[in-house]
Amino acid sequence: MLKLLNIGMIGYGFMGRAHSNAYRKVNNFFDVQHRPVLKAICGRSVDKVKAFADQWGYESTETDWRRLVERKDIDAIDIGTPNNTHLEIALAAAQAGKWVLCEKPLAMNGAEARKMVEAVEKAKVPNFVWFNYRRVPAIALARQVMDEDRIGRVFHYRATYLQDWTISPDLPQGGAALWRLDAAVAGSGVTGDLISHSVDTALWLNGPIQSLTAMTETFIKERKHQETGKVQKVGIDDACLFLARFANGALATFESTRYARGRKNKNMFEINGEKGSMYFDLEDPHRLQFFDHGDPPHLAGWRSIHVTNFEHPYHKQWWVPGTTIGYEHTFINALADFLKGVETGKPAQPDFRDAYRTQLVLDAILQSARELKWVNVNPG
Ligand SMILES: NC(=O)c1ccc[n+]([C@@H]2O[C@H](COP(=O)([O-])OP(=O)(O)OC[C@H]3O[C@@H](n4cnc5c(N)ncnc54)[C@H](O)[C@@H]3O)[C@@H](O)[C@H]2O)c1
Repeated sequence: MLKLLNIGMIGYGFMGRAHSNAYRKVNNFFDVQHRPVLKAICGRSVDKVKAFADQWGYESTETDWRRLVERKDIDAIDIGTPNNTHLEIALAAAQAGKWVLCEKPLAMNGAEARKMVEAVEKAKVPNFVWFNYRRVPAIALARQVMDEDRIGRVFHYRATYLQDWTISPDLPQGGAALWRLDAAVAGSGVTGDLISHSVDTALWLNGPIQSLTAMTETFIKERKHQETGKVQKVGIDDACLFLARFANGALATFESTRYARGRKNKNMFEINGEKGSMYFDLEDPHRLQFFDHGDPPHLAGWRSIHVTNFEHPYHKQWWVPGTTIGYEHTFINALADFLKGVETGKPAQPDFRDAYRTQLVLDAILQSARELKWVNVNPG
């Protein structure tokens, strides 16, 4: 008998859809002991929230997240709202004894994230942050390659996360569709939105970052606010680059921008070690490239591994070798890991504490860019 887990999902946007899909599918593909129930969807517009409930099969709706959190028939609160709402919702949910799943970045800054960690740990409630790229099979395979010590001592880590959708100066800032351009709502620009993913992956694959020096730029200095119509100073970073030193001695470069014409969501990393190298690019998501220095010299070369075999992470749960899965499956894989973590007592990562460490790296990036100096990262 599966245990029913009543979900209260907050936000019916991009992530509201991705998470709802995961709740609906997880039991079809994974053997977990819980069955998520789409109990309630919460958003501020009555019409939109009702339409979403109809489309996705939610049993009920709420227009105030506080009412949702108070409901006795909700077991887990899922925060799929803009970044400036995460803290308040998470604190209330933890206090009400709910499981808390939260979108990334965990918070607006490290101080907020720390309060969130303290709240879930005090309440002893399962908690999780949806850094979904860890659940791309090729990235999970990269972690396995690291665990198997096939790369050896790491010398270099380089990551880029590139988009191009904010180049037009006519694009407004703020409002429902463009909150990512409003610093008061997003906290930061590409640092919280994009490089946070690169940092999460990097910490997972290569351990803590010790120190860094960063530069950020806001290319378009003023934009009209979508809600007020007023032209206002832009407070977010449009681009962010940083150099870093990992605790294991590796040197790193990270770059993210929304001004790389032609790049829609290029999430790439390369690791160079004593025994080998690895390369991943989300524009070719089923492939992990691997160079093994142990190969005989006349056969040495980069292997392009099509990560779809039953032996590869997650693929046993999906289709036959050679077929592929997509973006939405990373959320289903993540949810399955989270549920298994609760069931086995070995919490899936990143939980709030783990995502807090990423948030501290983001704080260090923004501090360094502001003060034009190297910054030691608070290890958390
Ligand atoms: N894991 C990922 O790769 C990924 C991708 C996209 C977004 N995100 C994160 O997910 C979160 C949401 O982003 P999105 O792209 O889904 O945004 P979105 O704009 O598509 O959706 C946000 C939703 O939140 C609702 N909302 C806003 N304020 C609210 C409030 N006070 N009460 C109730 N509902 C409220 C909006 O009505 C909307 O339904 C952000 O933290 C973002 O950084 C993560």
